[in-house]
Amino acid sequence: MRLHLLELEDFEWFPNIIREGITDYLRFATEIFNVYKPTAKFIADMINKTGIYSIIDLCSGGGGGAGTISDEINSLAGKEVKILLTDKYPNITALNYVSENSNDKISFLEEPVDAVNVPDNLKGIRTLYSSFHHFKPEDAKKILADSVKNNMPIAVFEAGERSLPGIAGVIFTTIIICTFATPFMKPFKWSRLFFTYILPVIPLTLLWDGVVSMLRIYKPDEMIKMTKEINSENFKWTAGKIIHKMLKITYMIGVPESIKN
Ligand SMILES: C[S@@+](CC[C@H](N)C(=O)[O-])C[C@H]1O[C@@H](n2cnc3c(N)ncnc32)[C@H](O)[C@@H]1O
Repeated sequence: MRLHLLELEDFEWFPNIIREGITDYLRFATEIFNVYKPTAKFIADMINKTGIYSIIDLCSGGGGGAGTISDEINSLAGKEVKILLTDKYPNITALNYVSENSNDKISFLEEPVDAVNVPDNLKGIRTLYSSFHHFKPEDAKKILADSVKNNMPIAVFEAGERSLPGIAGVIFTTIIICTFATPFMKPFKWSRLFFTYILPVIPLTLLWDGVVSMLRIYKPDEMIKMTKEINSENFKWTAGKIIHKMLKITYMIGVPESIKN
């Protein structure tokens, strides 16, 4: 059963210094293990089917989603793909760092973008990495319905699954990475060391939010059910799990049957 318990980073009052510690960690962890690499072929397929060469990444945090696999997407798509990173609480220092190291392939918006209310001028394949679980079913359906309304393809990927191994995996990796890798996370911040080793607010938040995230992840059939509850017959939906090393990535892809340009 899906449980929508509270994640600390969902609170508007949550201190930015800790929020950034969380999203920096997520980018670092997904980058070192190249967690999202297998999702690149799904994106490249969407690009080939639709001819849309730009990606609007929603809920990008510190850039730890599409931002970590831009090279793979480019090489599989065979043409330069532009990625725009956006978030309701953008981690600007991190997004700047990711953009500056991307050879102009990745840019970001400094102003907040709410995934439930994407501005009409943002055109491209919409991606949500490890963030669809933030939304209760009503809002999750609004996100899908808005893609359909704008005839924009959408891809949802969640690193993990709603299961005991999923929860155990989050606890194990969080403890190991926070303990041994924190000083190597970029961009370097003294505050990260303080809030990890002296006052461990970052690891404790990561543990709580990580476990709650796993309990919130929608299963593939639950996401497909959502698509049937919105008016989306003109989209082809596929959902499932990708097994990558020891990790499972839950996903759903929606592509319009025809693209009106
Ligand atoms: C678990 S983090 C994932 C970040 C990034 N995609 C990654 O994989 O590293 C979830 C992100 O969703 C963002 N978020 C939460 N609610 C949002 C909303 N309504 N609109 C846009 N972003 C939102 C948070 O600010 C946070 O950066």
